[in-house]
Formats: sequence, C-alpha cells, structure tokens
Amino acid sequence: MEYIHLNYAATSAKKPRQSIDAMISYLNANNSLSPGRGGEASLSEGRLEIEARLSLCRLFNVKRPEEIIFTQNATTSLNMAINGLVRKGCHVITTSMEHNAVARPLELLRQKGIIELSIIPCNADGTLGPETIKDYIKENTRLMVMTHASNLTGAILDYEKASLIAKEHGLFFILDAAQSAGYCAIDFDNSAIDVLAFTGHKSLMGPTGTGGFIIKKEIADEMEPFITGGTGSISHLLTQPDFLPDKFESGTPNMLGIIGLKASVDFILDTGVDKIRKHEETLTRAFLSGLQDIPVKVYGPEDISIHAPVVSISSDKMDCSMLSSVLFEEYGIITRPGLHCSPLAHKTIGTYPEGTLRFSFGYFTTMEEIKFALKALSEILK
Ligand SMILES: Cc1ncc(COP(=O)(O)O)c(C=O)c1O
Repeated sequence: MEYIHLNYAATSAKKPRQSIDAMISYLNANNSLSPGRGGEASLSEGRLEIEARLSLCRLFNVKRPEEIIFTQNATTSLNMAINGLVRKGCHVITTSMEHNAVARPLELLRQKGIIELSIIPCNADGTLGPETIKDYIKENTRLMVMTHASNLTGAILDYEKASLIAKEHGLFFILDAAQSAGYCAIDFDNSAIDVLAFTGHKSLMGPTGTGGFIIKKEIADEMEPFITGGTGSISHLLTQPDFLPDKFESGTPNMLGIIGLKASVDFILDTGVDKIRKHEETLTRAFLSGLQDIPVKVYGPEDISIHAPVVSISSDKMDCSMLSSVLFEEYGIITRPGLHCSPLAHKTIGTYPEGTLRFSFGYFTTMEEIKFALKALSEILK
C-alpha cells in the first residue's frame, strides 16, 4: 500500500529530488574530510558549508553569513541559546503554546534555581495577545522565548509585535521557528529577533539531524557557548573562539546533512516561499472546510492567514489513538495522535491529557490526499 503522509509537522516525509541527488553525489565522491581540519579536500568542504550558509542568508535575509550557526536540530539550537543567554537570578518569559524543546530547558533551569519563569497563557485557539507580555515583565526579566507557529493548532503567533515589546523593555528575544521556517517569510535582519532557531527537516524539507540558529553578531557577544570543543581554529588555546560561527560550532559538522539542507533551501528559493505557503494554505482551507461536515471538534484559529498547515481534531465517537490507527490500518494515512511533545499547549486548548489527532501538510501534499483523508474520516465516524 502507498502511504499518505499527513504528518509533515513531525518531519517532511518527502524531500526535493535535488536534495537527495546532492547527498548521493557527495557520498559517491567518497573523499570527505572534516571541514577546516584536513588539507585540500577540507577546503572544498569548507566552501560547501559557506555556500549552505549563503543559501540560508537569502532565505532569511541575513547579510552576515557567519551569523548562521549549524546544529543538529531546533532542540539543540534552543538549548544553546537559552542556556547561553540566561544568568543566575534572571527572569524568563515564555508562552503556554511551547513545544517541550523550549519548555523543558526552561523548566530545568527553573528547578535548578537559576531562573524565575513566567508562562503567559495563550488563548484557547493557541493565539497570543502580544500586549499581555507587558504584564509579565519585571525588573529582572532578561529573556523572552516563544514559538512562531504552534505544532498543535497551527496558530501563527505575532512574533513581530512580541519582539518589539521585548526590545522596548531591553529583553533578549528568541524565536522558535521550527514549524514556520520555510513556510512563513522571515526577514531576520529587519526584525527584532535576537536568535532564530530552525530545524532542517520540517518545512525546510531537508534531512533529519540538520538545523541551526541565526544570531545577531552584537547578541553573540552576550551569549555564552553551551557546547565547547574543537573548531579547527586557534587550536593552541584552551578557550573557545569568541568569533562567529566558531564560538557556537564545535565538533565535526553533519556535512552530508548540510549539503542536503542547502539543496532543499535552494529548492525553496527557486519555488518561492509565497508559492509554497499559498499551496499549503489552500490545502488547509479545504481540509478545514471539509471537516465541517464530519462529527469532529476542530482546534486552532479560524483566520487562515494565521494558520500554519497543522490541524488538530478530536471526536466523541472515537479516541484519537484509535482513530489514528484505523486511518493507518485501513486507509494507509499517517497522522500523529497524542500530546505532540506539547503538554502546555494541550492544557491551553483544553485537550490535556487525552490529546488530539493531528493532520499536517507539506508542499508535496496533494488536494487528492486531502479529499481522501476527509472521505476516510467521514466513513470511520459516520
Ligand atoms: C514548535 C516546535 N519547536 C521545536 C521542535 C523541535 O524540533 P527538532 O525535533 O527538529 O529539534 C518542534 C518539533 O516538532 C516543534 O514543533
């Protein structure tokens, strides 16, 4: 059976052909050395890494390529940024729609007595009224961390306003763009974002094990490295380099992944973020409209312009895990039931601890697949 992957919020099951080809030809060349660490061949690997940074610069409008830091994923990036920016006794603000990639590092720091933490309650559809942030800012508030798009309801949060409020009050601002990078156009240089965390394998359509963060140079001076080690630069010193990107890039990079990610980002640049968003928005609108005739409860914002291609539902007729199993076993449709690593968000929308069933779409999802999923749901729940 050919499976229908409607779980793109977890990972982009399909990758652009050029991304796969780029990785295959890198492997076939069979001469990889580690960049910056070994002779002539490493020079060309170093160049490939720079080219990948340049593609990401074009996507996010970043003028200084060294501000792009490669990591394994958004989780690593968020841990590095959060731990590097907090100081003992400071206060941090986040939202109630966060993924555990944000919530757990913050909670650990709170439990260790390093930070005070405030979690701003979002609305039941997952949106945030950014003005409420002001009510939580205190004398010792140093940092605000928030998601751009919810992996549960698809709600796109107003980071523009939130980051401006953070700046007005002298806070550092970290944006978790795991669900939005590649789907929403983000102009990093002209934004008030200090650190933008992204993952390579969701809407950027790259391989797993890739990701990174973008950091404004001025902020990098304030951020301590969380991971230290070999960088292939100033090797006579036992201290970490203080320049970018080396300050935050220790150890051998995932060159294969970075090459695949670059090709995926180039595919997005060639296609256009607007075209990608339009296609996925059309699919989401059609799916939401079809759900109106099916006995399910739908979560998330009504306004499609602030709705990422992620739809959560529940049904009185069948528990979400069972529904997911039937969709898979009888129709070959892959969805994601449960808590989606986002217990705070489920509490916000009133679906904790049961969870929801999540459908999520990508650029390679077709309207036929949407219609088939709607037909399957109505047959199962009739
Ligand atoms: C909103 C959000 N943040 C962070 C992450 C973590 O991404 P990764 O697992 O690629 O580190 C996810 C993954 O689902 C996510 O949805």
